[in-house]
Amino acid sequence: MPSQPETTSSINIRQQQHLQRLTERYTKRTKTSKQLAQTYRPVIADNKTFVGFNFHLKEMFYPIVAKRSLGSKIWDVDGNEYIDVTMGYGVNLFGHNPSFIKEALEEQLDLGIQIGPQAELAGEVAQLISELTGMERVAFSNTGTEAVMTALRLARAATGRNKIALFSGSYHGHFDGTLVKAKAVDDYPNPVPLAPGITSNLVADILVLDYGNPQSLEAIKAHEHELAAVLVEPVQSSRIDFQPKAFLQQLRQLTKESGIALIFDEMVSGFRIHPGGAQAWFGIEADIATYGKIVGGGMPIGIVAGKASYMDRIDGGMWNYGDASYPQVKTTFFAGTFCKHPLAMAAARAVLKHLKTQGSALQQQLNQRTSQFIETLNTYFQEDEVPIRMVNFGSLFGPAASENSASSENEGSAGMDLLYYHLVDRGILLRNGGGFLSTAHTDEDLDYIIQAVKGSVQELREGCLLPPRSSANLQKLEAAVGS
Ligand SMILES: Cc1ncc(COP(=O)(O)O)c(C=O)c1O
Repeated sequence: MPSQPETTSSINIRQQQHLQRLTERYTKRTKTSKQLAQTYRPVIADNKTFVGFNFHLKEMFYPIVAKRSLGSKIWDVDGNEYIDVTMGYGVNLFGHNPSFIKEALEEQLDLGIQIGPQAELAGEVAQLISELTGMERVAFSNTGTEAVMTALRLARAATGRNKIALFSGSYHGHFDGTLVKAKAVDDYPNPVPLAPGITSNLVADILVLDYGNPQSLEAIKAHEHELAAVLVEPVQSSRIDFQPKAFLQQLRQLTKESGIALIFDEMVSGFRIHPGGAQAWFGIEADIATYGKIVGGGMPIGIVAGKASYMDRIDGGMWNYGDASYPQVKTTFFAGTFCKHPLAMAAARAVLKHLKTQGSALQQQLNQRTSQFIETLNTYFQEDEVPIRMVNFGSLFGPAASENSASSENEGSAGMDLLYYHLVDRGILLRNGGGFLSTAHTDEDLDYIIQAVKGSVQELREGCLLPPRSSANLQKLEAAVGS
């Protein structure tokens, strides 16, 4: 949320000139995107055109409007080409519009989009998800948010308990029941709504704990008889380099002993870090896992998968024809007009079959390529004294959280914000200073990004928007060049 907008008086003349030149260039290049933002602002209430508002950058503050995409590239409405590392916020593991997904969608479009009767492919898709993730049963919704909401409901229904523990820094979608933060009252972290419009009642049963902190395990132990579930984003997108395997193992042990459902929110890690997601990566079996993004192949999807003891709350559990069996388990509420949408099922089947055929080598290679890419960037940042350090978890990458917050207080803060615009101007689309690599990114793409980063840093330094290299280092460099 923007507080009081900053004024332009806090930047010097050289910085103003730099900003002016960049703004002119940027807005000329992407003029139709800007025009569309302004034209439709009265009718489209859109947080894409709001989050991160900054007065200095106001004239460049609009989303790039995409026209088409293929592989690692997106073309905007002005015809500019971009190497995309946003990759649908983690959706496009195989790049944009891969032919095997496109064909599956075209085939389904020919057959029609019949909603109401059972979707023909739903059973096969559930089977494939179960095979890859090791989860016993699978249910479909339309978004990750819905999947998380359902997972919590299932855990509460199965355990008969109300409280849910989750960790600060995690993101679990936009369901009211997870939009919560901790506010210390008498040294005790009280749950309070994250934003206006969410009532405190809706988050009263949430325990917001510190991720990776042993004291959080103690808090869970102290509440063990009230807790239905612990909801965890195994590697938080907000803190990529924190990958606390030992903590997760202890959490698994504790929740098992206490009959608390351990829910892995695998919206980002699912099918990306490993075919079996973070569960397979860390060697930890959760009770319920939620998936989305990649598995929908670009179509909206959310998946709740888990042990039958939880999933049976959706349909009453297993029964057979020709005997006395019937759905015996007491169910909770679950619904959705678009659940198991035929197009989402067709795309998901194509994705899952592809993942199954490729095996874990697909993720291994992509993870390794991303690590090399990050290492190259970091070597450059270190040698050139740029106050950035990148981190990755498999093919998800971004700036290290600590460096990120530190940079907002140092003189390079404005430059860090501007680096994003410089990179867009050079034809790179990224998000939160990072993004995702896909199997469609080529070595040339990665080289281009590295060169664009170097060029942008140089420009920002010329405009006094990044701290200069120390003179000691410059002397070393001059000596080396001279020798
Ligand atoms: C870990 C996690 N959980 C849940 C969600 C919500 O998914 P959706 O945006 O599909 O509702 C996201 C979305 O980014 C996520 O990263």
